[in-house]
Amino acid sequence: MIKMAFFDAKPYEVEAFKKWSTDDIQIRYMEHKLNAQTVDSAKGCDVVCAFVNDTIDGEVLEELQKLGVKLVAMRCAGYNNLDLKALGDLKAVRVPAYSPHAVAEHAMALLLTLNRKTHKAYNRTREFNFSLNGLTGVDLYGKTVGVVGTGRIGRMFIDICRGFGMKVIAYDMYPAEGIDYVDLDTLFRESDFISLHCPLTDETHHLVDEKRFAIMKDSAILINTSRGALVDSVALVEALWNKQLRAVGLDVYEEEANYFFEDCSGEIIDDATLQLLVSMPNVLLTSHQAFLTEEALSNIAETTLNNVKEFMLNGNLVNEIK
Ligand code: NAI
Repeated sequence: MIKMAFFDAKPYEVEAFKKWSTDDIQIRYMEHKLNAQTVDSAKGCDVVCAFVNDTIDGEVLEELQKLGVKLVAMRCAGYNNLDLKALGDLKAVRVPAYSPHAVAEHAMALLLTLNRKTHKAYNRTREFNFSLNGLTGVDLYGKTVGVVGTGRIGRMFIDICRGFGMKVIAYDMYPAEGIDYVDLDTLFRESDFISLHCPLTDETHHLVDEKRFAIMKDSAILINTSRGALVDSVALVEALWNKQLRAVGLDVYEEEANYFFEDCSGEIIDDATLQLLVSMPNVLLTSHQAFLTEEALSNIAETTLNNVKEFMLNGNLVNEIK
């Protein structure tokens, strides 16, 4: 029997995993995140299953090895929260693609909402305020969208944008066929809308900083569904104050770990930058929900359980992170 400690479990994930789990695996679902304070709760397990805001640093990995854990199964695509250099004898796997459509569609949803201000219209009409003042948007048709990162999600997003009749320019170190690539500064200078779809690495940390805000069109809308730290959030607040961009849609935030996925409505948020962003009328924040479709949850559960069983029962590392 394989024993797996499942950290940061949410009801919608438990439901999907229960659908796919079989008798040869016993899952200990736990609501708390994995970090140095909670790592002991993996005691007796062969596998830990972790998500985007778990802290899987050197200290945690060392402790996991002491506890006899053999595998870290990330139930997500990005793994910037896992210290690969400190894995030691542990192995790690992930779910490289569970629904690129889900994330790309959410990025477009943020863009459409911000442009046509449907979030404001929804609130207005609920109070029988049928005024249109201040709700003017622009046609997406014919506008230029800049896509940073043309992997699975970026390419899906490009397909969606082309469906709207938009001109697409992109930046990636590994160009794909049929896409017009430009350097990053040209992309930031020329785009009416910019969407980020590259991973968070040392190189992409604060890719959107003060300098890039300065060269963006002041009518531009920025969308980030990738990882929070791609955008320097302090510089973002400053740029919004200075009206250097029209709006921003964020599904991720660089300091999200303490808040996202949780109901903090009864608390005082002790992050002034987040407070400021939420208070601005041209900021639309969703709490890392771009992946959240039935199809994606089902694919995550199926692939994670398959990754775990392949390793624990057959010694195969499917979808290994190295
Ligand atoms: P992918 O690996 O298919 O594509 C990433 C692309 O980014 C690759 O083409 C790569 O060459 C490119 N890239 C790498 N470094 C770059 C750089 N410095 N500048 C420009 N491009 C660079 O990954 P996929 O599946 O498209 O996912 C992209 C990101 O989306 C993930 O890394 C993850 O952080 C994020 N994500 C967010 C989710 C959410 O719910 N908000 C869900 C799933 C993924």
